Amino acid sequence: MIVDVGGIKVHPGVLDAGEQAELVEQVRRVVRAAPLFRPETKRGRKMSVRMTSAGRYGWISDRAGYRYERHHPDGQEWPPMPALAKEVWRRVSGVSRDPQSCLINYYDADAKMGMHQDRDEANFEMPVVSISLGDDALFRVGGAERGGKTQSIWLQSGDVAVMGGDARLNFHGIDRLRPGTSSLLPNGGRINLTLRVVD
Ligand code: SIN
Ligand code: FE2
Repeated sequence: MIVDVGGIKVHPGVLDAGEQAELVEQVRRVVRAAPLFRPETKRGRKMSVRMTSAGRYGWISDRAGYRYERHHPDGQEWPPMPALAKEVWRRVSGVSRDPQSCLINYYDADAKMGMHQDRDEANFEMPVVSISLGDDALFRVGGAERGGKTQSIWLQSGDVAVMGGDARLNFHGIDRLRPGTSSLLPNGGRINLTLRVVD
């Protein structure tokens, strides 16, 4: 059963417990090669989430703005995309192209993400596929204009959200976590993977 939240399609429980653990292991391999970093916004404020990427492109934010880059800030190319994440994309994206970027966001108990649109990609006909691992997170979805009505849903470990079609440019964000709701990550918190076609 798919849940429609303001046009974003949430597929509950796409990954079972074994697959979640396997995906965490694949994420750990990425983080060992491309360490998490805490990006700054254009206005020089530190984000509360920590990030890294895998695949051809990684998403970067700093004083120069938001963009995709071929290299980690330390200079190395991004590691290969986790195979299981690509597999999830193939299951739910509905498009024939493969993703070119897997952004890895780590939320600790206090992290959140303000309302924003994903619009640094060249082709908005390609969806964004977002995988949740770890603690529950309150996901807020608005429309294509900032400040409109919103709806919220608690995303759980193993859930997958697809932002496509008319909802591709909907505003969305994470208000807060519910710490301690999952035992998947030994130190708690939440990992979110967002997969995208970039060029
Ligand atoms: C994002 O919009 O980049 C992240 C959404 C999430 O953490 O679920
Ligand atoms: Fe986003």
